[in-house]
Amino acid sequence: MDLRVNLAKESKFDLHLQNPVMTGSGTFSNGIELAKKFNVNELGAIVSKGTTLRPRRGNQTPRTHETASGMINAIGFQNIGINSLINDVAPIWDKWEIPTIVNIMGDTVTDYGLLAEKLDNVPGVSALEVNISCPNVDAGGLEYGQDPFMASDVITIVRSHTSLPIIAKLTPSVSNIQPIVEAVTQAGSQAITISNTIPALAIDIIERKPVIANGFGGLSGPAIKPIILRLVWQAALVSKIPIIASGGIFSGKDAIEFIMAGASAVQVGTATFLDPFAPWRVIEEIKAWCLENEIDSISELVGAAQDVH
Ligand SMILES: Cc1cc2nc3c(=O)[nH]c(=O)nc-3n(C[C@H](O)[C@H](O)[C@H](O)COP(=O)(O)O)c2cc1C
Repeated sequence: MDLRVNLAKESKFDLHLQNPVMTGSGTFSNGIELAKKFNVNELGAIVSKGTTLRPRRGNQTPRTHETASGMINAIGFQNIGINSLINDVAPIWDKWEIPTIVNIMGDTVTDYGLLAEKLDNVPGVSALEVNISCPNVDAGGLEYGQDPFMASDVITIVRSHTSLPIIAKLTPSVSNIQPIVEAVTQAGSQAITISNTIPALAIDIIERKPVIANGFGGLSGPAIKPIILRLVWQAALVSKIPIIASGGIFSGKDAIEFIMAGASAVQVGTATFLDPFAPWRVIEEIKAWCLENEIDSISELVGAAQDVH
């Protein structure tokens, strides 16, 4: 059975995965600790923790909270910073047989350009996932990914500073995702990830205040799956580039739903908090489902449920 996927189809780029299952940014650290326990070389790809120009300690705790069928997090981009990532982590990735995708996050458009420039030609780095679900302070806190022009500005600067494939990671907080898909494609993305977490709040009724120290956070897990499935389906109606689905994928059947909605690959995130082996299990369950349903190649299923009739 052929589970291979190519996420960057233009001649200049390629991003070949042996199977469509990768880890979700921020849910697998940079993979180093987990690689001691699990065989990372069996995955489709690893996506790093969101990386910023300088190291960050993240937000005060509590910064995670379990909800019905999901979790809220406001980690605040705790990470080691781009220089340590390049010097200490990338050489380890370079020994792995699978692609490693670095998730980057900037406060300004210039930051994104600098991050892309630093990561260009670093052995062990196969692609950039550009998180555009972060606020643009100059635009009153509107997220870069909520406006096609701002989304385009970020991807354009990244494109001009790297020869690596670019994956734009979109926000679900939009009324229509299609103009954003078109804007990031035009600006030079090879693929898109749909999507980041959904802004959400939990209240501690004894303390009479939000549970998360920072106020609110991002909801992930099975609770968001139907919403993200709808976004992937709508994006796939117009997208000319591959879509990577991220939102509540816990099983092989979840992954197949997203692939039928139009995704070429999937990310497993929150599921790893319950079961660190979840990405490997999802691969096995996809294989089993395909065998049972006589599917020779996973590509046959991409967008199979696009037609409503
Ligand atoms: C604890 C935690 C940390 C995360 N950190 C990042 C991050 O640094 N960058 C990013 O783009 N997404 C981040 N995400 C979002 C996930 O990568 C994923 O897109 C989202 O959680 C939806 O998928 P899931 O329901 O499978 O977790 C984080 C999610 C969680 C739960």
